[in-house]
Amino acid sequence: MAMKHLISIDDAQINLLLNRASLIENKKIYLDHSRKILCNLFYEPSTRTSSSFASAMYKLGGKVISINDVNYSSVAKGENLEDTIRTMGTFCDAIVLRSRTAGEAARAAFVSEVPVINAGDGNGEHPTQTLADLYTIHKEFERLDNLTVTFVGDIENGRTVHSLDKALPDCEKHFIDTFDKSIWPASDVYYLTRVQKERGSEGSYRMRKEHIQHIPENAIVMHPFPRNEEIPTWFDNDPRARYFQQMRNGLIMRMAVLADIFSNEK
Ligand code: NCD
Repeated sequence: MAMKHLISIDDAQINLLLNRASLIENKKIYLDHSRKILCNLFYEPSTRTSSSFASAMYKLGGKVISINDVNYSSVAKGENLEDTIRTMGTFCDAIVLRSRTAGEAARAAFVSEVPVINAGDGNGEHPTQTLADLYTIHKEFERLDNLTVTFVGDIENGRTVHSLDKALPDCEKHFIDTFDKSIWPASDVYYLTRVQKERGSEGSYRMRKEHIQHIPENAIVMHPFPRNEEIPTWFDNDPRARYFQQMRNGLIMRMAVLADIFSNEK
């Protein structure tokens, strides 16, 4: 059974999507959704999520209607979320929604006639980023259990952290917030995030030489981006850096997610 909506990472059949992403990446399946129209509806800024969904849709042969800044839509005239969702569901076959408050994606799904994909709801969840993250981790270690994962950054308000934490129940996890200046524990994965100032978070941190010295040789350093000062750019060429691959994996995984959603059709 394909997903109807993707609101929480709990809605995703992770193994199925990892397999499909791998088939897509290795050109083992050909997908054609050329009659489908996707709506990108973004109430918060986005570079990677909105563009990778658009790119994924075009690669599947489909089309995209983008409302990348709701201030130029009827939202600026006071239209509520439910009416906007019903409207875009009339014109599109699925809606990718980024919203400002946790719980809004679920609210949208409740009234929507077409599938809703949560592209981040306030400090709630961000399931497609997590699927991209899981694909990245799985490619590296060929498993998603028995790993040690250290989250560094905005634990409270980072929605990517919330979804990834949920998706890794059988790993050893450490959480280091922005005020904790200790040396990081030895881990397989270091998952760094930006301080979500727009959600009232404070503090700052920077990955320093003394942290990097303690990162094992086979470990990987991930970041959903955008980065601020967490990771110095000189680390980008380090063999442990995986954040640019993570972006590319996001594109492939979004193709897998869209194909899954559209496979529901009679
Ligand atoms: C994240 C988000 O929007 O939650 N960005 C993304 O989608 N890759 C991370 C962030 O904004 O810090």
